[in-house]
Amino acid sequence: MPMKKAYLDNASTTAMNPLVINEMVQVMSGNYGNPSSTHSIGRQAKVVLETARKTIASLINAEAREIIFTSGGTEANNLILHSTVKDLGIRRIISSRVEHHSVLNTLPRLAEQFGIRTDYVNLLPGGQPDLKHLEALLQEEVPTLVSLIHVNNETGTVLNLLQTGTLCRQYKALFHTDTVQSVGKTEFDLRNLPVDFIVASAHKFHGPKGVGFIYITKTIGLKPMLYGGEQEKGLRGGTEPIHQIAGMAKALELAYGNLNEHRQHITALKEYLHEQLTINFPGFKINGEAPGEELFYNLTNVLLPLPEDKTAMILFSLDMQGVEVSRGSACQSGSVKPSHVLKEILSPDAIKKPSLRISFSHYNTKEDVDLLIEALKKV
Ligand SMILES: Cc1ncc(COP(=O)(O)O)c(C=O)c1O
Repeated sequence: MPMKKAYLDNASTTAMNPLVINEMVQVMSGNYGNPSSTHSIGRQAKVVLETARKTIASLINAEAREIIFTSGGTEANNLILHSTVKDLGIRRIISSRVEHHSVLNTLPRLAEQFGIRTDYVNLLPGGQPDLKHLEALLQEEVPTLVSLIHVNNETGTVLNLLQTGTLCRQYKALFHTDTVQSVGKTEFDLRNLPVDFIVASAHKFHGPKGVGFIYITKTIGLKPMLYGGEQEKGLRGGTEPIHQIAGMAKALELAYGNLNEHRQHITALKEYLHEQLTINFPGFKINGEAPGEELFYNLTNVLLPLPEDKTAMILFSLDMQGVEVSRGSACQSGSVKPSHVLKEILSPDAIKKPSLRISFSHYNTKEDVDLLIEALKKV
């Protein structure tokens, strides 16, 4: 009998929805044109491209002209940080120590290259940025970009975008938020939200890897982010991969079409997991949990009451039993170094203990949770 498997690492990536694969195959087989060509197959490709743009924009209540396609979240975050400094006169970026590496590792490079200043906002006990400190930092009159993650990919803490964006507007700072973990999983009403840039990556919502987008309100003054042709309003040259883009639009449509149902299913699974942990591992803790903190519904990061010497091998041991979870972000899962996010919120003793990030999708079932619990008991 094949080994039972449980994939519980959906914050790293998700399984593609078969309907998305169908959509992509149709575009790949029937639509090989270059959307910049003026002949009919090119024009057909252009229709696919622009239809996808309109679909995506309408799902997040934005305008089609505000959507720029990229190769994913890393590129999107890099482009925004670079462009705002290079072209919009930003001299300071306020960010936090719990950002994804595509933001965190870009900041020192920008400081080196352009001499900008980076300020890091203080964190509250759960890892949430302290908005009072943000406001204090914003008092200084220097052209500023605030870049703060919306849903933290390791702990699921949620930034209040309305409150943060309103502060940024009040102090005339631009606001970028890394929404890679939240687009497709929670509603966005961008026409009424004070944010300047958000980003998305299709593989986080059952779409293909290697494609994402930037929502951008401030294009005036922006120079090409990638030099090349006139694609994407001249901001990002390169022939658009229309099969990927059409796949992303389909994935987002499916995600938002079934959002409430999926959210309910996943929320129930997460509650079931916490119940099972309470029974089998009393004393476990939810990393990021703090008074007044709202944690996102699809992931939980738990510190297990197991001996420290289990930390190094826990993932391997679970994997051998068919359970796929992670310790933190996937880009680091091969690393034995403790997560940079947990380092900010846990004590030096707690960080040595085994913590696991368990992240769900609507494909998961209670059996997956049972398999995880049984596997953990054997660790
Ligand atoms: C919060 C966050 N930002 C950015 C990224 C990078 O996205 P991509 O894999 O599309 O480059 C990820 C992916 O792990 C993420 O979780």
